[in-house]
Amino acid sequence: MPEDDRIVSGDLVDDEQDDERENSLRPQIFDQYIGQKAIKDELQVYIKAASQRQEALDHVLLYGPPGLGKTTLAIIIANEMHVAIKTTSGPAIERPGDLVALLNELQAGDVLFIDEIHRLPKIVEEVLYSAMEDFYVDIVIGQGPTAHPVHFTLPPFTLIGATTRAGLLSAPLRDRFGIIAHMNYYTEDELATIVERSADIFQTLISLSGAHEIARRSRGTPRIANRLLKRVRDFAEVAQQDKVDEEIVQYALNLLRVDDHGLDETDRKMLKMMIELYNGGPVGVNTIAANIGEEIETVTEMIEPYLMQSGFIKRTPRGRVVTPAAYEHLGIPYSKN
Ligand code: ADE
Repeated sequence: MPEDDRIVSGDLVDDEQDDERENSLRPQIFDQYIGQKAIKDELQVYIKAASQRQEALDHVLLYGPPGLGKTTLAIIIANEMHVAIKTTSGPAIERPGDLVALLNELQAGDVLFIDEIHRLPKIVEEVLYSAMEDFYVDIVIGQGPTAHPVHFTLPPFTLIGATTRAGLLSAPLRDRFGIIAHMNYYTEDELATIVERSADIFQTLISLSGAHEIARRSRGTPRIANRLLKRVRDFAEVAQQDKVDEEIVQYALNLLRVDDHGLDETDRKMLKMMIELYNGGPVGVNTIAANIGEEIETVTEMIEPYLMQSGFIKRTPRGRVVTPAAYEHLGIPYSKN
């Protein structure tokens, strides 16, 4: 199944309406932002200090699984600094000229947000080094005999980069970020609070236990929690129920085959395959991806991190291993010798 079709995928769904709704739910300032307390506390200090000095904030690298609010944090940082933000992504910047065009539009102190910064082409990344460090770029314009070097000076700006894993970044790029923030999965309580906040924005009534049931099945990820809330709200509306309660959440999410740990068909398929074909592992990630018909990156960036966090698989030097907890969750007797 393509990753975007999974209701429990943390990935963005390519749907304009969904994007719009996601935007309406996005907190705009730190006071509205729930969770990631350590990062929030730290960033608030740096923002206050930079504002007092009337300087641009140091460059920020946000890393963590998809759907945890990296873009939201970038927007909040810009809002709290009272500066504008330009948003782009690594794969969208194909040539150094594309980057220069973006940098040229920035005013002093503005934020440039580059999502999936690990996918920036190498030639663009190299131009970024001097831009980040000394606020200038040297590029060659034109081709052949008319080619000539051009030097651009830039206003001081803040680069905010987002990536799923800091290890995917080259060391020279990583070293140029003054602030590195690792985002973690949210707790059930935090997600339940987010669900209540979103329900409020949707003007949907939800019981506390209903919000917790959605939170438990959202793999620690606000984007998934909000997506599940929308689907459950549809079920409640069709059932002419004016309040989302625990029962309708269970009914809806069971139909959507999202289990009580937030695992979906793809997760269970991966675990079952590892158990049935490889006696629980160790299995290499390439083998896993091939056997369940997913991209390697989908397995490593989206499926595995949550299974690992939930204690259902372990990474070993020889490959991934299914844990006894996963056998128990799937109702398969554990018979490892
Ligand atoms: N919606 C999505 N993520 C959120 C967060 N961290 N806090 C509040 N609302 C959110």
